[in-house]
Amino acid sequence: MPIPVGLQAPGTSSGRFEPVARLGEVGPGEMRRVTRGDVDLLVAHTSRGICVIDDRCPHMAAPLSLGVLDQCLISCPLHRGQFDLAGGDVVQFPTTGGLDADGGSHAPWSPPEAPPKPEPTDLKARARAATRVRRLRYYPVRISGDTIEVVFPE
Ligand code: FES
Repeated sequence: MPIPVGLQAPGTSSGRFEPVARLGEVGPGEMRRVTRGDVDLLVAHTSRGICVIDDRCPHMAAPLSLGVLDQCLISCPLHRGQFDLAGGDVVQFPTTGGLDADGGSHAPWSPPEAPPKPEPTDLKARARAATRVRRLRYYPVRISGDTIEVVFPE
């Protein structure tokens, strides 16, 4: 899967490809965390091919490897955020609300038909409202024989 324009992870444009898994270990629809030092990456075998992103939700850093992959849509296990791996877009904003990557503000989720919630003012609510959902970061990946190879940041 090609890396969406502007979303290649910093420090990966000139690095070496390193083997991270056998192709058979990440079958279609499967995901796998790979770690080098303190860098956790997610290898996802989507319906459009294999891609590698941080294994950290761009919201509050939950491991996306514990989420659900459906075609190209990955769902975070923590606040129901959903992200399109083909284009890098947020499909469903986290239930907590907060800021999107461009600074736009999103209200917390509330059930349909429910009366509007009063705006909470406690410190946790203010922290949630000021938490930004960052853009996904993609790492260069290639298949060499039966091996998946990735460029880690330098
Ligand atoms: S940590 Fe993933 S949606 Fe909040």
